[in-house]
Amino acid sequence: MPKKLSLKGRDLLAMSDLSTPEIELILKTARTIKKNPKKYSSALKGKNLGMIFQKPSTRTRVSFEVAMYQLGGQALNLTSNELQLKRGETVADTARVLSRFLDAMTARVFSHNDVLDLAKYGTIPVINALSDYEHPCQALADLLTILEHKKTLKNIKTVYVGDGNNVAHSLALAVVQMGGYIEVATPKGYEMQDSLIATAQKIGKQTGGKLVLSYNAQDTATQADVIYVDVWTSMGQEEEHKKRLADFQGFQINSDLLARAKKDCIVMHCLPAHRGEEITDEVVDGPNSVVWDQAENRLHAQKALLYLVLGK
Ligand code: CP
Ligand code: NVA
Repeated sequence: MPKKLSLKGRDLLAMSDLSTPEIELILKTARTIKKNPKKYSSALKGKNLGMIFQKPSTRTRVSFEVAMYQLGGQALNLTSNELQLKRGETVADTARVLSRFLDAMTARVFSHNDVLDLAKYGTIPVINALSDYEHPCQALADLLTILEHKKTLKNIKTVYVGDGNNVAHSLALAVVQMGGYIEVATPKGYEMQDSLIATAQKIGKQTGGKLVLSYNAQDTATQADVIYVDVWTSMGQEEEHKKRLADFQGFQINSDLLARAKKDCIVMHCLPAHRGEEITDEVVDGPNSVVWDQAENRLHAQKALLYLVLGK
């Protein structure tokens, strides 16, 4: 008998921690909970999620907090400034101690090594709420959004235009894990990391998914079903802002670029948007934009994840 799929007690540090059937299970569960949220209102009764944030957040923090409340549990907001981390207590010791109080931790960190350490030294599930390398919770909500609008992740052209950053990494992996096709166009010098590209290519061999890299936003956007964009300057890169503004010219999602895509192309952005930089008002507020549905899906995807990791 095949073993029943279970995510109980698991960490989510990177998209590649999940197999394709596990991603499918999260998406299916997200759709079920989204349709009938009341049915799950006590699913995590008595469970406590600690949320460590080294960087600001609107969507991730609020959606995790609301997700826990809606599932009957509670969330504790632990900004790193208020923890002893700020005064030099190690991530490892923080993980050991918090594991004695909490049922799970989510963490937004500057260095991906910090989420790896939380998972290594803690004894409870750890969920990456964004690191400099990946943003897997975002990618789960992105898959859910594409599925809702396009009904499939296969045989469509998903493109990402801009910085080869954490969001690009998780999206590329997620699409390839689902057997989809994704093209990523970045300026030279802003490519995704080689290690991530190698992982995506390896996974693609098993799933039939494909990642194609480019330096040409116009060609990449042509006949796209999904155009995805993120900020050009991520948190922690503020001192590079001026240089990045110059280097990313030609990579803005505006109506000219959108005109190259299919008429029913959806435009996605993980948000926050820097309007007038990577995306124009016209596009983010226009008829092709699904960014508010996408933001809402952070809640539904994370509820599914929490339910599967912490539920009975
Ligand atoms: N997309 C996203 O993670 O948004 P926040 O930074 O507001 O959490
Ligand atoms: N790439 C962005 C994503 C914000 C949600 C950053 O890391 O700042």
